[in-house]
Amino acid sequence: MKPDYITDGVYRVAAKVGSRDLFEGIWPIPDGVMLNSYVVMGENKRALIDLVKDWDGALWTVFEQLDSLGLGPGGLDYIIINHMEPDHTGAMGQIVSRYPDAQILASEKALPLIKSFYKIEKNVRAVKDGETLALGGKTLKFFMTPNIHWPETMMTYVEEDGVLFSCDGFGSFGRYEGCFDDELGANEKAHLKSETERYYANIVSSFSAFVQRGIAKLAGTDINVVAPSHGVVWRGNPKEIIEHYARLASYMQGPREKEVAIVWSSMYGNTEALLQSIVDGIRSEGIDVHILQVPQTHASFVLEKVWRSEGLIIGMPTYEYKMFPPMYHVLDILERSHVQGRKALRFGSFGWSGGAQKQFDVFVEAMKLDYKGCIEYQGSPTDEDKKKAFELAKAMAREIKEL
Ligand code: FEO
Repeated sequence: MKPDYITDGVYRVAAKVGSRDLFEGIWPIPDGVMLNSYVVMGENKRALIDLVKDWDGALWTVFEQLDSLGLGPGGLDYIIINHMEPDHTGAMGQIVSRYPDAQILASEKALPLIKSFYKIEKNVRAVKDGETLALGGKTLKFFMTPNIHWPETMMTYVEEDGVLFSCDGFGSFGRYEGCFDDELGANEKAHLKSETERYYANIVSSFSAFVQRGIAKLAGTDINVVAPSHGVVWRGNPKEIIEHYARLASYMQGPREKEVAIVWSSMYGNTEALLQSIVDGIRSEGIDVHILQVPQTHASFVLEKVWRSEGLIIGMPTYEYKMFPPMYHVLDILERSHVQGRKALRFGSFGWSGGAQKQFDVFVEAMKLDYKGCIEYQGSPTDEDKKKAFELAKAMAREIKEL
């Protein structure tokens, strides 16, 4: 890859990471992910903002681009760390070895992490909220934006150009041919929107209150370009990604989309036998459904659809006196991600003994679900069970429609 020119003296030096690995060791990235670092070249000083992990050739791709900008070994004055998670710092040791005199700037909370992760203490300095750094014709300003996505997170802003380096904030999964939002065709734009929602749900959703605080903090700042460390650079319409994130963050408290996510598992088809009645009940009120079979659908994609939906229906049998294990995993992910307050139903079959509901009730409470009840039966469902399922689903859909 070549460096991408953003504006005079400001470049993206990025790597496209492939799709074989799981992001954070959990999340599938079938279309890969971008690792974006940035360079700001002032008249006197040069800074590299955010790093990469030595992942799928990313480090050498970035080194080549730095070389092409005339920033070979020793050519940087500052290394700015907005966020310590290793996708942005994994190669810190190699990069610091290449630029041993560069001063490392990060938030106060990042300093002990730099020491514990990489044993680096030399040339490290904490910056404060609102502090500026003059590079000569370019002034960097630092905004503390904790918990987007770890407590030490900050963002860096170029005052003269209105470029915001937001790291995880305003990021997306996926790899993109062009660097900028205004270079995408309609299909790529739709893919970016979906991969932004999945990224948000998977990585950031737990911290939605902090996202809202961060967006409020930036409200008085002229932002011409949003340059995150995952996804594309937003120069055509930077407001679009900020507003999209504001909407995704608002799903924590609601209101959410008038949609229902039906997440279901079945061992021998007896729980599945009620699925159509549930779907028909929801659709009878004109409400859209997302139908997600577990474990066939990874929790990453389940969480994406559940996060946006006002309704949540869990179809799950009892398995050895407890919940069907793959559904336990999914519910654990949903609960950790702060999926709360949805209108909810459950349906499911049991064999010689029930037990799933007792364990599910714990999630109902932890997730503060507006729980509408359960259709549970031994063996296969009766016509009466199917009728009850249709009516309960319809009533829930009507409530959602009237919100
Ligand atoms: Fe892209 Fe929280 O790391």
